[in-house]
Amino acid sequence: MPNGPAESPPRRSDADIRADVGSAAEESVAGNCCLRFKDFNAWYGDFHALKHVTLEVREREVTALIGPSGCGKSTLLRWVNRMNDTIASAHAKGELQLHELDVLSKSIDVVDLRRRVGMVFQKPNPFPKSIYDNVAFGPRLHMNIGRSDLDELVEWSLKKAAVWDEVKDRLRQPALGLSGGQQQRLCIARAIAVGPEVLLMDEPCSALDPASTARIEDLIFELKRQYTIVIVTHNMQQASRVSDQTAFFYEGKVVESGDTIDIFTRPKKKQTEDYVTGKFG
Ligand SMILES: Nc1ncnc2c1ncn2[C@@H]1O[C@H](COP(=O)(O)OP(=O)(O)O)[C@@H](O)[C@H]1O
Ligand SMILES: [Mg+2]
Repeated sequence: MPNGPAESPPRRSDADIRADVGSAAEESVAGNCCLRFKDFNAWYGDFHALKHVTLEVREREVTALIGPSGCGKSTLLRWVNRMNDTIASAHAKGELQLHELDVLSKSIDVVDLRRRVGMVFQKPNPFPKSIYDNVAFGPRLHMNIGRSDLDELVEWSLKKAAVWDEVKDRLRQPALGLSGGQQQRLCIARAIAVGPEVLLMDEPCSALDPASTARIEDLIFELKRQYTIVIVTHNMQQASRVSDQTAFFYEGKVVESGDTIDIFTRPKKKQTEDYVTGKFG
């Protein structure tokens, strides 16, 4: 692990995870391509929701997806972990690669894909279970893990998600008793407990107060040392604060993408400029 032992999950669990993930995560280098969309198209029935999207998401960077409501940001995220499989009218064409994996292939193991690609939603959605059981849920499903290793992994994940100090004395209490901001960090802990490569965050702060938002932003900054993060946000300050790369979507197309600093300070397209300066949205 490039970040040294302090960054690694507990030993055995980590080895189990890595064995499952294969070489991709081992060889992960910041800046390399992690997710690749090439002429990617998605529909709901006849409605063409994403049009000829070509976009690269780089390893261990934060990529922000911005654009007005309905432009296809959530649809894009939902294809990365194949959540759209549950929508009968949803179909897609084109290339979508996670490292070596052809995400659209009918033959892939979707359960394993979802372990590799964690998702955090707008509204925190802990299970109606204890704090401990929320984090232990994925490892119990995906790993053959003993009690003490599981305890260690739960603690590691909660620390990584910067919520351990607030919950360590109440691990057996219901997760739904936590504040919204704590619940969202718990959901992040739950996502990272299974050793994902990518974290998808769909407006993760929009239901939170400013103080909780700031904590999540700090956390994103920490987490990108180890994970590739894609975040959808309507908050332009947030996009410019947390992301390295930004892609601006409009009506299902990528209008412009590139370094966040360029998108916000010297966009090439007038439409991008109008959006990032708040002229429409
Ligand atoms: N389950 C669905 N069935 C049909 N149309 C949908 C469905 N989900 C989203 N859409 C449509 O696809 C477009 C893109 O939606 P979405 O990806 O949610 O946009 P965003 O996240 O950028 O607000 C919108 O026009 C939306 O109405
Ligand atoms: Mg959305």
